[in-house]
Amino acid sequence: MDRIPVILDGDPGHDDAIAWMLAKASPLLEIRAVTSVCGNQTIEKTTYNAMRICTLLGIDAPIAMGKPAPLMAPPMNAPSVHGQSGLDGPKLPEPAMELSELRSVELMAKVLRESEEPVTIVATGPQTNVAALLLSHPELKPKIERISFMGGGIAHGNWTPAAEFNILVDPEAADIVLKSGVPLIMSGLDVTEKALIYPADFERVRAVGNVVARVVADWLEFFYEFHRKLGYPGAPLHDPVAVVSLLRPDLLKTKALCVEIETKGEYCRGATIGHDRAPANARVNLGIDRDGFADLLVEAVKAYGEARR
Ligand code: BDR
Ligand code: CA
Repeated sequence: MDRIPVILDGDPGHDDAIAWMLAKASPLLEIRAVTSVCGNQTIEKTTYNAMRICTLLGIDAPIAMGKPAPLMAPPMNAPSVHGQSGLDGPKLPEPAMELSELRSVELMAKVLRESEEPVTIVATGPQTNVAALLLSHPELKPKIERISFMGGGIAHGNWTPAAEFNILVDPEAADIVLKSGVPLIMSGLDVTEKALIYPADFERVRAVGNVVARVVADWLEFFYEFHRKLGYPGAPLHDPVAVVSLLRPDLLKTKALCVEIETKGEYCRGATIGHDRAPANARVNLGIDRDGFADLLVEAVKAYGEARR
């Protein structure tokens, strides 16, 4: 079986961490690099979190630190959702690896250059690193198989009425990615707010009983607590949908659309406008088989070994 080579670029973050758990658990994917970006927290914190997550999950790909700020906008973080550490909740192992001496863009470029086959980028934070890569290494575009990203929302936003967090943090970067011509899969709020994992599912995950299962169950509880107060019946697992798009596209309902980024609007900066008045630039996920997704999550944690009591 040919595995899909991937670069995981994110700002972990509870849902980024669960996305990476799904990726590492699957025999379909081969993780070639992990790159951090600032978003949910500062670049120092998201990088430290990336290293702790990779240590927990046994991801042995090189890890690099990304850009310290968006391309043009001032940095913006989300401690209300993910805590002051960017990944509050269960205790995690200290990093067991060294950080790459390359920065994210250079590590991504190296992986693409050295790969015999095109590589998929899974982007679950602001698109700063990916845009910087496209700007600085346009010759490597053909080496990108596709970019599967979590961001935006055709129907609505979450950080403002019009804008979703990842796009709002760096709209100029998202604009570059959406205009890049690279094949794109967009998982925005339209689908990710339907990717709800309920408290009963947390217990199914916890019951698997290994170390990763228990940490993932705690992450789910922490992440749900914020959303419960907003009236959600479960934890919307945004970032994992970008991985589900590669592993189980059969679980998703998708539409090809032309997606454009509002970079200038006073009220709508960071909005993702999806329409069919121009050729499509993205496959946009709009629906998900929720039960199938919950089952996939429970099966994934089983890949991390037997129960330890
Ligand atoms: C996105 O914002 C972040 O807080 C999450 O990790 C996710 O990538 C959802 O809007
Ligand atoms: Ca994220």
